[in-house]
Amino acid sequence: MTPVRLLLWAALVLALAACGAAAPPTPVPPPTLDPLAEGRRMHLIWCSGCHAVEAGAPAGLGPNLAGVATLAAANPDGLSAEAWLRREILDPNAVTTEGYPPGLMPLIYGQSLSAEQLDALVAFLLTLE
Ligand code: HEC
Repeated sequence: MTPVRLLLWAALVLALAACGAAAPPTPVPPPTLDPLAEGRRMHLIWCSGCHAVEAGAPAGLGPNLAGVATLAAANPDGLSAEAWLRREILDPNAVTTEGYPPGLMPLIYGQSLSAEQLDALVAFLLTLE
């Protein structure tokens, strides 16, 4: 190796060593999820095809959920509003809303939603007073 080549080689080795010694990138913490925004998103994805949430909007295949928090709080089964909403989502045929046919609401949400997504969805529905 000529001296020039040797110098270039040494420079390259030093440059690579410097790269390796660079500090590892600081991990970015995951964004904290806003449960209400997440719940609204879940409704949009999974429920809005059948359930409107704007007061006065026409009912779709399922009843309009505007005011569902008030309905849930006054449920005749003695459940908390939250427990009633969970049951409506996970076991829609436990009780059928008057005026609607049973068996139309999908029975998939226990599998399709993670525990966090279900919590967020219920939190969102509880705001619909
Ligand atoms: C394919 C249409 C359909 C989809 C999708 C659907 N539902 Fe329903 N849902 C219905 C129907 C029909 C009823 C009324 C009959 C019954 O009680 O099963 C109902 C009833 C309900 C009720 C009771 C409302 C009341 O006034 O008594 C709640 C709460 C509810 N759904 C929440 C949800 C949520 C939350 C989702 C999304 C995770 C969802 N539904 C997805 C069709 C649907």
